Amino acid sequence: MRTQPVLYTKRLILRPQQLTDIPELVRWAGDFEVADTALNIPHPYNDEAAIQWINYSLESWKNQQQAVFAIEFKYKPGLIGVIGLASIDYRHRNAEMGYWLGVPFWGQGLATEAAARILAFAFEGLDLDRVYAQYFVRNPASGRILEKIGMQQEGRLRSHVRQWGKPEDLILCGILRTEWLKNGQGRGEG
Ligand SMILES: CC(C)(COP(=O)(O)OP(=O)(O)OC[C@H]1O[C@@H](n2cnc3c(N)ncnc32)[C@H](O)[C@@H]1OP(=O)(O)O)[C@@H](O)C(=O)NCCC(=O)NCCS
Repeated sequence: MRTQPVLYTKRLILRPQQLTDIPELVRWAGDFEVADTALNIPHPYNDEAAIQWINYSLESWKNQQQAVFAIEFKYKPGLIGVIGLASIDYRHRNAEMGYWLGVPFWGQGLATEAAARILAFAFEGLDLDRVYAQYFVRNPASGRILEKIGMQQEGRLRSHVRQWGKPEDLILCGILRTEWLKNGQGRGEG
């Protein structure tokens, strides 16, 4: 079992979660606007939810099921969001990408920057063949991020999930390693 790496982008550090992330997790993930379009963030959010999440994310790296990273600025320590790969399937070589950022950090291209790095990690670091993501139809910003990192829309999953007790449609997107390489996104790092 290898240690979870720390990944770098121009402005960001993507690193394993740690228990000192609890206050920022509660602060940022606790915002309804963040929970509203994410599938697995309980609302309201509290310390207990943060501890459970951190422990689960560390455990799931060890079990090779997930690769979850806290997002923080290079120049200013402290978690501002979370990104990662869930449902890692080494047999079929695929995984699902998910992410969120605290509201004050929206609109600066940060999620796109982190998502591009996670894609590189999936293909070069974990040797996967496919990465997919799903977003609510009513969340076009997420669709745009996935488009910018080279994903294609693959379908609409009608009433696939319930959010706040109501059925919601999801858009499924994906990218293959071959497409990612063809796009010239591989940089020989992982
Ligand atoms: C979705 C989320 C991660 C976006 O983060 P971000 O750092 O603001 O995203 P970026 O700035 O990298 O890119 C957003 C893109 O969407 C575009 N966008 C924003 N709002 C939009 C809208 N209503 N319609 C269409 N495009 C929109 C932006 O203009 C930008 O595209 P551009 O670079 O071509 O201008 C953030 O809003 C968030 O955490 N939301 C709550 C959790 C969530 O929805 N997670 C995703 C689950 S699938």
